[in-house]
Amino acid sequence: MTNRLQGRRVLITGASAGIGRACARTFAASGADLLLSARRFGRLEALRRSLEAEFQVHVAIERLDVRDRAGVETYVSRLAVENRLPDIVVNNAGLSRDLLPFHEGKVEGWEEMIDTNVKGLLYMSRAILPHMVSRDSGHLIHIGSTAGETVYPGGNVYNASKFAVRALNEGMNLDLAGTRIRVSSVDPGLVESEFSEVRFRGDRERAEAVYRGYTPLSPDDVAEVVRYVANAPEHVNLHRVILYPTDQRNPYVLHRTGPPVDPE
Ligand SMILES: NC(=O)c1ccc[n+]([C@@H]2O[C@H](COP(=O)([O-])OP(=O)(O)OC[C@H]3O[C@@H](n4cnc5c(N)ncnc54)[C@H](OP(=O)(O)O)[C@@H]3O)[C@@H](O)[C@H]2O)c1
Repeated sequence: MTNRLQGRRVLITGASAGIGRACARTFAASGADLLLSARRFGRLEALRRSLEAEFQVHVAIERLDVRDRAGVETYVSRLAVENRLPDIVVNNAGLSRDLLPFHEGKVEGWEEMIDTNVKGLLYMSRAILPHMVSRDSGHLIHIGSTAGETVYPGGNVYNASKFAVRALNEGMNLDLAGTRIRVSSVDPGLVESEFSEVRFRGDRERAEAVYRGYTPLSPDDVAEVVRYVANAPEHVNLHRVILYPTDQRNPYVLHRTGPPVDPE
C-alpha cells in the first residue's frame, strides 16, 4: 500500500501507554515525525529515545494534561509559532473509572471521565482546527469506543462520554463540509492495555480477569487501523471504524473458554 505518512507530523495525546503508545510506534515506523503528550513524562522520554533510535524520525514530547484547557491552548499556540503544527491529530487520551450502578457512582470518577474523554478532546480539537481550516488541510482521528455504540450495565457515564465522542465526530464532519479536513473515529471493543487497571483503580487481579479466556485486541491492532485511516487518500474519509476482537461480537456476546470469570 502507498505510504502517505512519510514526513507527516502526527500529534498523539495519551502516548505514554496502550493505544496511544502503539500509535506512536506505528506512525514512526511509517516515517512520520511525532508530537507526543501525556502526564507521565518519564515514559514519554523513554519512548522518544527508542523511537528515534529505531526509526530515525523526530519525536518531540510534552507533559500535558488534556483537562488543562490553558495548557492545551498554550501548547498548540507554541506549535503554531514554531511552525510545528501537526498534519494529523490522534485524540486518544482517555480513561474509565469504576463499573458501578449509576445510583452508586462516584462523582469524582465521572468528572475525570467527562473532563478527559470529552472536554480534553474538545480543547485539543478547538485549538487545532482553526489552523487546519486556514491551511485547508488536516485530519483529526478520535479514539472512540464501542461503548459509544452500545451501553452496558455499570458503564453509564463512560458510555455517555463515548457517545459524546461519536456525536462530536459527526458534528465536526458536518461543520467542516466544504473543506479538505477529515475527521474520523476509530472505535474499538475490548483492548488489553492499562485501561482496566485504571478503571479498577489499581486492582490488577480484577483487571487481568477482564482479558482472560479469549483473545482481546492489542493496542497494536488498533494502531494498525488508525494508520490505515490516516493513510487513506485525501479524497477518502473513513468517518467511523468499529473493530471488535473476533471473540467479541458486541458488549454482551463475548466467547470465553476455560474456567468461568466473574461477570463484570
Ligand atoms: N482498552 C480498551 O478496551 C478500550 C476500548 C475502546 C476505547 N478505548 C479508548 O482508547 C483510549 C486509550 O486507552 P488505552 O486502552 O490505551 O488505555 P491506557 O493504556 O490506560 O492509556 C491511556 C492513555 O491516556 C493518557 N491519559 C489519561 N488521562 C489523561 C489526561 N488527563 N491527559 C493526558 N493524557 C491522559 C494516559 O497517559 P498519562 O496517564 O501518562 O497521562 C495513557 O497514555 C481511551 O480514549 C479509551 O477510552 C480503550
